Amino acid sequence: MLSIFVILLLLHHIYAIDPYQKFTQINLPPGGPIGPESVALDRFNQGPYVGVSDGRILKYEGPTAGFVDFAFVAPNRNKQLCDGATDPDLGPTCGRILGASFDPFSGQLYMADTFFGLAVVGPNGGKATIIANSANGVKFNFLNGCDVNPITREVIFTDGSQTFDIRDVIRGNFTPDSSGRLIKYNPRTNEVKVVLDGLSVPAGPAFSHDGSFVLFSEFSNKRIIKYRLIEDTTEVFLNLTANPIKIKRAPTYGEYWVAANNIIVSQPGSVTPFGYKFNLLKQILITKNLQAQYNNTQVNVLQEYNVNGGTLYIGSRVAPYVGVFNKW
Ligand SMILES: *[C@@H]1O[C@H](CO)[C@@H](O)[C@H](O)[C@H]1NC(C)=O
Ligand SMILES: *[C@@H]1O[C@H](CO)[C@@H](O)[C@H](O)[C@H]1NC(C)=O
Repeated sequence: MLSIFVILLLLHHIYAIDPYQKFTQINLPPGGPIGPESVALDRFNQGPYVGVSDGRILKYEGPTAGFVDFAFVAPNRNKQLCDGATDPDLGPTCGRILGASFDPFSGQLYMADTFFGLAVVGPNGGKATIIANSANGVKFNFLNGCDVNPITREVIFTDGSQTFDIRDVIRGNFTPDSSGRLIKYNPRTNEVKVVLDGLSVPAGPAFSHDGSFVLFSEFSNKRIIKYRLIEDTTEVFLNLTANPIKIKRAPTYGEYWVAANNIIVSQPGSVTPFGYKFNLLKQILITKNLQAQYNNTQVNVLQEYNVNGGTLYIGSRVAPYVGVFNKW
C-alpha cells in the first residue's frame, strides 16, 4: 500500500505538466499607473483587485467597465496629483500598496502600504484605516506583503529592511542586509507583535491552509523559511536558484506558488522571471518560465483561483498589465 502511494507520488512529480498555457493580459488604464503587485479576488471571486504605482487599489469589473477605484491608504491622497503616477518619489504622498489580502469571513481587505503601514478597509473599499506604522518602537520602512490566516483571521506581514525602501529597490541602489522582520497582528486584541527579526529581505508571507504555519521568502538568501506559530520555530523549507518574492496558497491543500526572479549577474538589469508551484513534500510541481510574457523584467506574484476552470493571475511591479493564464 505504502509503495503504491510512493510510486503515485513519484509519477505525479515526474509527469506534472503545466496546464496554464493560454496567456492573456488585462491592461491597466491607459496613460495611467503601472505595476500591479498584488492580484487578489474577493470572497465572491470578483476582481482581481490590484495595488498599483499611484497608491490605489483598483478593482477589475470586466472588459466593459475595466478598472475602477477601490481603496487607498495615504491619509491625504490627492487624486489630481496622484492618479496615474509612476514616479517613486510620489510614494510618500500617494502611498504604494505592495501587499493585499482579504479576510474571507468579513470581506475586509488588509493592505501593506509600504509608506503608511498596515491598514484595513471594509468590503466596499474607500479610505482605509491605518492599524500600525511601527512595531517595538521601530517604524516600518519597507512593508511588502501580508496574508490573513484562513482559520484564526490573524494577519502576518513582512518589513523587508530598516535601511532601504522600495524607492532604493526601484533605482537598484541598495545593499541587501539582515534587518527585516516578520510581524503579526491580532484583530481581536489589536496587538502588533514582531515574531522574527534579523531576516534577509523577507517578503510575501503566506499562512498554510490549516493556519498552523507561515511560509515566507528571504529574497537575498534565495530561500523559503517555514515558521511554526505555536511552536515558535523556524526551518529552511526550500532553497531556490532564483530570488523569491511573494508566496501564495494554491487552491489545492498543501500547494503554493512563489514568484522568483533569476538575476543574471553578468548582464546588469537583466532578469529571467519564474513562477514555481511546490508542495509540502518540497517537490517543485511546475516551473513556469515567464520570459515570453514579461521579457527581462521581474514578476512579483502568482495567484491561482478555482474560477473559469482554473485561473492563474500574475502581478509584476513594472508591467502595465495583469497577466492571466487559463488552461490549455
Ligand atoms: C539549504 O541550503 C543550506 C546551505 O547550503 C543547507 O544547509 C540546507 O540543508 C538546505 N536546506 C534544504 C531544505 O534544502
Ligand atoms: C514585453 O514586450 C512586449 C513586446 O515588446 C510588450 O508589449 C510588453 O509590454 C513587455 N512587457 C513588459 C513587462 O515589459
